[in-house]
Amino acid sequence: MSPQKIAVLTSGGDAPGMNATVRAVVRSAIRRGWQAVGIESGFAGLLSGQFRSLDSHDVSGLIEKSGIFLRTTRCHEFRQERAQAKAVANLRAHNITGLVVIGGNGSQAGALAIAQQGFPVVGIAVTIDNDVFGTDVTIGVDTALNVALEAIDRIKVTAVSQKRAFLVEVMGRDSGYLALASGIAGGAELILIPEIEVDLEAAADQLLGAYQRGHAHAIAVVAEGARYNADAFSAYVAANPKYAQIRLRETKLDYVQRGGVPGVADRLLASYMGVAACECFARGEHAVLVGMVAGKVAVTGLPTVVSTQKVLDPELLRLWDELRD
Ligand code: F6P
Repeated sequence: MSPQKIAVLTSGGDAPGMNATVRAVVRSAIRRGWQAVGIESGFAGLLSGQFRSLDSHDVSGLIEKSGIFLRTTRCHEFRQERAQAKAVANLRAHNITGLVVIGGNGSQAGALAIAQQGFPVVGIAVTIDNDVFGTDVTIGVDTALNVALEAIDRIKVTAVSQKRAFLVEVMGRDSGYLALASGIAGGAELILIPEIEVDLEAAADQLLGAYQRGHAHAIAVVAEGARYNADAFSAYVAANPKYAQIRLRETKLDYVQRGGVPGVADRLLASYMGVAACECFARGEHAVLVGMVAGKVAVTGLPTVVSTQKVLDPELLRLWDELRD
């Protein structure tokens, strides 16, 4: 097989493990005798021609780094076909033979657009939201969960000491995964997620019930995309005398969750996925996303990835139901 020249870009919201993924793609490409190219600032850099050669040494020390070495942007211009055609022309002008797109759902839609122009593309799902179809876990989510969990554990100290109730709002866009997983692991009394319709009064009663049953604390983990997010929920509780007993405080974790140093799980997953992407190019398999399904590397067509909504693991929902008090 003739040598390849693989370009890699990071796009969308930054997430822990993006750097480790770039490193794995670059190292695996070089290992095969191919060239590696980094495109700076995601699809915006692809359009403006911000390409630079990367060798093995350039990505040394990157595996443990938070922050995005190649930088990342959300590029709205890339939704236009004209921009997509220009991107492919730029890739060809640099003699690139394959592109790896590292990012979440929006980035994989961009990857598909390039693939549909006949250019070889492989996607790797990196986002703290864990909402990309084609992989059980996205790179970044484990580290973000550990950040959320540490915050919940700390907040519990005040909740217990001062008998207060807390709402902890986590990110996740339209997905409740971060809230559900951190809520279960953090021993929350209440979890509000977009995927499950809640009755506001029943939810507030649940928190009040925790107080009245003498729970050491009352913690609600709320997804930012839930129908009643932290602001809506606390406004309801504050306006209703029935809940006067609850001294509710709000903490929004927001971007704190995105900047963590990637943990072991994310570094390993990033390493597996970078190698898997290069293996796809070696096999001549394109227009796909590489992911981890049931503990094994899996390859899913980008059209399926982009058009299918990932559903929350029903086992996780069952776990929550089984263990809450
Ligand atoms: O997709 C990752 C994410 O952090 C979401 O959880 C959040 O809703 C969104 O990005 C925030 O986007 P931005 O970085 O554009 O403010």
